[in-house]
Amino acid sequence: MKSKTVKESQVLRTEIVHPGDTNPLGTIFGGTVVQWIDKVAAICAMRHTRRNVVTASIDAMDFHSPIKVGYFVILKASVNYTGKTSMEIGVKVESEHPMTGEIKHTASAYLTFVAIDEHGKPTAIPQIIPKTDDEQKRFEMAKKRREHRLNMKKAQEALYKS
Ligand SMILES: CC(C)(COP(=O)(O)OP(=O)(O)OC[C@H]1O[C@@H](n2cnc3c(N)ncnc32)[C@H](O)[C@@H]1OP(=O)(O)O)[C@@H](O)C(=O)NCCC(=O)NCCS
Repeated sequence: MKSKTVKESQVLRTEIVHPGDTNPLGTIFGGTVVQWIDKVAAICAMRHTRRNVVTASIDAMDFHSPIKVGYFVILKASVNYTGKTSMEIGVKVESEHPMTGEIKHTASAYLTFVAIDEHGKPTAIPQIIPKTDDEQKRFEMAKKRREHRLNMKKAQEALYKS
């Protein structure tokens, strides 16, 4: 199976925050941002694999700054790491002041997607080729996160069995 570059599947989406997306403080609901994150990440994973994919996990995430009604939300998704059937997609979320253009980092999310074949089973995916220094760095970090994630999964399973 042919390996692919990070650029081939990157996704960029810009949204505007509507009043219906906000809480009584006039800032966006975290759940709305998570939904947008899951969608851009899924598109990125499907572009990379050209397969159906499912979200296997979403790592814990922190919101560093609120996003107000009328602001733009910029979501950038890319494949950080590939396993045999799963891949980590990183999504960076930024807010943009609509009048000044000031950009603030709101959150970074790491999601694991698994490619699924026609029988509903995990299936092999193309490997990612990190080309730039930044892509290489993200690849190495994602590899460590994957190890940690799978260890946590094992520990949780053991806890529920006991
Ligand atoms: C994700 C899912 C396909 C994994 O199935 P499974 O039988 O555990 O598959 P396997 O053990 O063969 O693992 C397949 C891959 O998923 C990875 N994986 C499985 N569970 C994971 C988890 N919780 N977090 C991260 N990766 C996970 C494995 O490491 C493996 O990766 P690799 O092939 O790159 O090494 C299955 O649990 C599922 O369908 N979950 C529901 C997904 C869904 O519907 N999501 C939407 C919201 S409900």
